Amino acid sequence: MKKILLINGPNLNRLGIREPGVYGQTTLQQLEKQIVEFAAQHDFTVTCFQSNHEGSIIDTIHDAQNEFAGIIMNPGAFTHYSYAIRDAIASGNVPVIEVHISNVHKREEFRHTSVIAPVCEGQIVGLGVTGYKLAVIAFKERFQS
Ligand code: DQA
Repeated sequence: MKKILLINGPNLNRLGIREPGVYGQTTLQQLEKQIVEFAAQHDFTVTCFQSNHEGSIIDTIHDAQNEFAGIIMNPGAFTHYSYAIRDAIASGNVPVIEVHISNVHKREEFRHTSVIAPVCEGQIVGLGVTGYKLAVIAFKERFQS
């Protein structure tokens, strides 16, 4: 079975409590369970990782090389300014799909820019937990063809 790494960045450990009108009521634990189960139906195993620390996310991206077929990542606010995470992705060859729960384009202007997106396969925004599932499907299609 191919392996997917799910990375959630800063403040996403507070899903369910944090601004539920924006991010919904699903907790991180529930989200991870849903993605693990959904991915299993599509023949992937998922390793889940969440961190509020940029360096830990970078180390995890480095360590993913040669182990994971793909990374699904919600970099949280790092999306908008972390050149270091962008460079970590660019330094490797594991494809990354960027996911955002909220529609960042409907929100404050600083959220409209992703410095990560140019080194990702694609970006899914505004579809809540479904966005993570769509990323699993995108990897399935990619690896089957
Ligand atoms: C987010 C959007 C970011 O702008 C924000 O900083 C987050 C969550 C999302 O999933 O919608 O932490 O990545």
